[in-house]
Amino acid sequence: MISVRSLSKRHGDRQVLQDVSTEVTKGETIAIVGPSGGGKSTLLRCLNYLEHFDQGEVDIAGHTLRPGMGRRDAALLRALRSRVGMVFQQFNLFPHLTALDNITLAPTVVKKTERSAAEETARKLLGKVGLADRAGAYPHELSGGQQQRVAIARALAQHPDVMLFDEPTSALDPEMRDDVMEVIKELASGGMTMLVVTHEMQFAHDIATRVWVIERGTIAEDGPPSQVVDDPQTQVAREFFARLRKK
Ligand SMILES: Nc1ncnc2c1ncn2[C@@H]1O[C@H](COP(=O)(O)OP(=O)(O)O)[C@@H](O)[C@H]1O
Ligand SMILES: [Mg+2]
Repeated sequence: MISVRSLSKRHGDRQVLQDVSTEVTKGETIAIVGPSGGGKSTLLRCLNYLEHFDQGEVDIAGHTLRPGMGRRDAALLRALRSRVGMVFQQFNLFPHLTALDNITLAPTVVKKTERSAAEETARKLLGKVGLADRAGAYPHELSGGQQQRVAIARALAQHPDVMLFDEPTSALDPEMRDDVMEVIKELASGGMTMLVVTHEMQFAHDIATRVWVIERGTIAEDGPPSQVVDDPQTQVAREFFARLRKK
């Protein structure tokens, strides 16, 4: 489903990703952890080409990404972004659109789905994320946790093959996190292929088939949670988890 080969990226003279290679198979859930500034967000953004990269190649959801793609590849990148859904820390909903219209926007405008069909799908997805009764609400009428669940439903409306989550619960009050994590857990058990950057270690432990510790632009550790979280092999990972536990 995803193959990353020798991916490198720099910002100025700063090497942000260094020769990253990895594979993710269909149905896996990868929890990504690691110190701030390590390159977690950059890696996710490269996977749906929100950021270009300098070297390497990525196969994802049937598309191949290479350095230097641009305007000529607009159609490919549009297709890519509907196959690869992304959910950010900040929910980025359109404030002037209801929950329902946020979800139907891309399907009706980009994919030219019939309005009634798009609405039917959107209502089903709102039910799935526990917001069946809030279809007509505007973002400012919803809590952060509810907005994030609308953002997840919006990404799912494109029927993605892969979902990327970048700290989906970090901007939320603790009591709102559980509902969002529950939705992500359900997606994982439903077989969605997912990469989730998170600092919620119990959550990572529960959902992940593998955990990556990303540090200084490399995947320093990669293995099942029982290995990486409970018995890390690298100094970097040991220090990172020790610091988390102290918090
Ligand atoms: N637009 C940018 N310009 C310059 N440096 C950047 C930019 N975006 C990210 N970086 C740098 O790249 C590194 C990795 O950032 P990021 O991927 O956001 O890390 P993480 O998500 O693990 O905290 C950091 O050192 C950050 O300062
Ligand atoms: Mg980040």
